Amino acid sequence: MKHLKPLFMLFILCASLIFAPLNAFAAATSSSSSSSSSATSSSTNTAATDDSLQRVKQKGTLVVGTSADYPPFEFTTKQNGKTKYVGFEMQLARQFAKDLGVKLVIKNMDFDSLLVALETHKVDTVIAGMNVTPEREKNVDFSKAYYKGNNFFLINKADKNKYKSAKNFTGKTVGVQNGTTQYNLVKQYMKYAHMRGLAKVSSLVIALQSHKVDGVLLDEPTARAYANNNSNLTTFNSHLGSSNSGAKAMAFAKGDKSLEAAANQTIDKVQKKDLINKKWLPQAAKYMNSYKKHNTVASYWTFFAKGVEYTLIITIVSVIFGFLLGTLFALMRLSQNKLLHGIAVCYIEFIRGTPMLVQIMFVYFGIGAIIQSMPALVAGIIAVAINSGAYVAEVIRSGIQSLPVGQTEAARSLGMTKKQAFRFVIMPQALRNIWPALGNEFITLLKDSSLVSTIGVGELMYQTQLVQADTYKGVLPLFITMMIYFVLTFTLTRILNYFERRMKHAH
Ligand code: ARG
Repeated sequence: MKHLKPLFMLFILCASLIFAPLNAFAAATSSSSSSSSSATSSSTNTAATDDSLQRVKQKGTLVVGTSADYPPFEFTTKQNGKTKYVGFEMQLARQFAKDLGVKLVIKNMDFDSLLVALETHKVDTVIAGMNVTPEREKNVDFSKAYYKGNNFFLINKADKNKYKSAKNFTGKTVGVQNGTTQYNLVKQYMKYAHMRGLAKVSSLVIALQSHKVDGVLLDEPTARAYANNNSNLTTFNSHLGSSNSGAKAMAFAKGDKSLEAAANQTIDKVQKKDLINKKWLPQAAKYMNSYKKHNTVASYWTFFAKGVEYTLIITIVSVIFGFLLGTLFALMRLSQNKLLHGIAVCYIEFIRGTPMLVQIMFVYFGIGAIIQSMPALVAGIIAVAINSGAYVAEVIRSGIQSLPVGQTEAARSLGMTKKQAFRFVIMPQALRNIWPALGNEFITLLKDSSLVSTIGVGELMYQTQLVQADTYKGVLPLFITMMIYFVLTFTLTRILNYFERRMKHAH
């Protein structure tokens, strides 16, 4: 036990040695990062360096972060099989981008990661039905408020007589979205109830319908929207939170004053014409109605098809690169050269010793901090290929080592060079021996590609979650996806078996 502490400190030291230059490099290459923890940049937070408005105009895009699970503020609808962001706040975002003369880019993420995204400049502003609160104001700036509202409970209609006020939830479970004001309200004022926090409101509604939670606390318009959309649900006023709270505004990174001022101008204009009440809310209601009519799971087949397409792309590209990496590292590990051997052992052990989910996030957020324009798909493929390479390397090594040395010796005595012996004698035999193990690895890879959904790549699992969110059906989309994965892996097994038989015959 005693030697653990020095070991741990050594680890921290190594880690900081690796990351210090990495961070410096990231800071140097990203023009927009104004908040770095290093002492040298402490002077950049003054108003004089506020180039937020200019920055947005220069890049020609306004990146808006939101959590599109909050009708009528923001939600998704499908149009020609594609996801479209609608709701009155998305209209506001559109208006803002139009006033700035730039293109609007919407980034849909979990509500509780929005402020982090803002602070790390992954988005220019957050428009997400976000209340102005003193806690949030410590970390971000807010525009003028453009909407106000209370908190309502969403419940199953069957429980209508059971729940009429917050107190009725004594000993029951109330669902809230992580990171919201509702989360804090329930935590603070409803100590008599259990609380269940989830990332997406759509997951909360599914949990409500399957009686995993007894009520969900939401902003009034959203509670009403869900109740109107679903005949099994109803809503009532929670009377939680003071009446003057609940003002919603756009959030900006601290110090982005010029961008905030531009937003205030847009908001003034919108309020003068009363656009939200007169035009955008009715429009949002229309979208909700039209989508209520045909949101059967089957009508989302294009989502599943898209998902399969991405899953196959990730799998095929990763298999190819994983195999190349695996061969390379197997040879390195078998090499006489101590350095090459050492590198290969480190790579294999490290990759096999850390979870793939963490690796995916690390590649996306870590390397993504240096190369900011790296798409999530590329990050996903890199992570999966690197991961697969480690396993394939071990499979290949075992295949090569399983062959008697006599094979190489015989080939060499026939006058082949080392390389030729490897390519024409060793590798073909090794490949035949390891084929089943390789096949296993490919099937694992196909299934594990589902983890890439966490960084927002539109593969099968990601699409499944979209369908769940849109249809409020928790189980059916999962079942369909399970079947699709099975068909894919089963087909892959058949193909692999075919080649295995052919190699046997050739032998
Ligand atoms: N108004 C609440 C808050 O500020 C909840 C907002 C949730 N928004 C959303 N898009 N899911 O915390």
